[in-house]
Amino acid sequence: MNREILNQEWMNLAPAWIKEAREGTNANRTGLLDKPMLETCGNVDGLRVVDCGCGEGRFCRLLVQGGAAYVLGLDLCTAMIEAARDLQAERDEYRVADVQDLSFLGDGTFDLAVSYLNQCDLPDFDANNREVFRVLKPGGRFVVANLHPMLSAVGAWHRAEDGAKLHVIVDRYFEETERDWRIMGVEVTNFHRSLSTYVRSFLKAGFEITDIIEPTVTDEQVKVYPQLEDELRVPNFIIYVLSKRRT
Ligand SMILES: C[S@@+](CC[C@H](N)C(=O)[O-])C[C@H]1O[C@@H](n2cnc3c(N)ncnc32)[C@H](O)[C@@H]1O
Repeated sequence: MNREILNQEWMNLAPAWIKEAREGTNANRTGLLDKPMLETCGNVDGLRVVDCGCGEGRFCRLLVQGGAAYVLGLDLCTAMIEAARDLQAERDEYRVADVQDLSFLGDGTFDLAVSYLNQCDLPDFDANNREVFRVLKPGGRFVVANLHPMLSAVGAWHRAEDGAKLHVIVDRYFEETERDWRIMGVEVTNFHRSLSTYVRSFLKAGFEITDIIEPTVTDEQVKVYPQLEDELRVPNFIIYVLSKRRT
């Protein structure tokens, strides 16, 4: 599937996506992923950060609030970037760009890179890894949140006759091809890859893997976000924490 068609899907989804992000009603983000993502990014005070596939800029704004000196949000979808610019403050900037080609950015110019649920959207995520490695300073880090490979393979529950969730179906795991999803009623294409394919790509790009997190929830969190109950049983997401070794 070519880049224009993939981008059109995000253009179709953008209005509903932006509305939901602005209302803060996406439990996967506010109740599950934001906390470990921010904790993993750590103290961003004074850092230069690039966010690959920033969407409407939500996480960029959180990093600015955390003290980042400069946050560059990149996204291929014009509607997302226009929305991000609507809320742009002084230390964040947004640009329409394909994160598989960062040739407009210099070598070793960022302290931290973030990819918050973007690599599963990329036909060539290897290229994104290579490019992020290049633009990071020695000692820089890349924090990648992605769909868990177990979920991106099929992403469905096997249910009992009464509809009760019995277990998640894992199948076609080694078939690394496109998967069709419906998000808020809009068709979106993702790319499924196995865990080892991701890990090997990070290593091949030159990264060290310093941590892997499978975010889950506590019973207390489920009381606040009942829609996250499944996260007690199976991980929907994974966070890879990568670093570029100082020479
Ligand atoms: C699942 S959304 C995540 C958005 C944002 N990071 C967030 O967490 O709200 C994926 C984003 O990746 C963007 N995207 C898809 N392919 C891209 C590409 N090749 N280069 C840059 N952005 C891309 C989409 O337009 C979309 O905004």
